[in-house]
Amino acid sequence: MIREVLRMGDPRLNQRASEVTEFDTAALHALLQDMRDTMASLDGAGLAAPQIGVGLRVVIFGVSVNPRYPDVEPVPDTVLINPVITPLGDAMEEGWEGCLSVPGLRGWVPRHARVRYQGMDERGQAFERIVEGFHARVVQHECDHLDGILYPMRIRDLSRFGFIEALFPERDLPPEA
Ligand code: NI
Repeated sequence: MIREVLRMGDPRLNQRASEVTEFDTAALHALLQDMRDTMASLDGAGLAAPQIGVGLRVVIFGVSVNPRYPDVEPVPDTVLINPVITPLGDAMEEGWEGCLSVPGLRGWVPRHARVRYQGMDERGQAFERIVEGFHARVVQHECDHLDGILYPMRIRDLSRFGFIEALFPERDLPPEA
């Protein structure tokens, strides 16, 4: 079921979400189905449960090859629960981000260039990955949602935060997340 996505300003987006304690339950599968339906309906790259008003540490993300975004690296469809992100090295990278909770805008956001992430899938199976580039950016963006952080809070240069049409009159951009 497609759910309403909360927008920046809603206090539910600024709370710390709680750990999932039971896996492979009907309620968790239903939540994930709603998240997939909602993300697909908005053509998003990722979605965190708090964005649909559910305060649990659950995120999904994934980007397939899309001719609209030739510069975007594909990211595998992933369900990540109770995530832990560990930066690998000190390198930071800045890049454009959007968010389904901040529709129509983009900002230039610093992120760790390379990270390890660990967590569970929907059946409670632990997994981990080492990633970089756009994949690392997306997972950091989504996991920030679980700590009540939206990407505008991380922008250093607010002159690089604005409406898509005004920032990029002639360019298509990566999807919102
Ligand atoms: Ni977002």
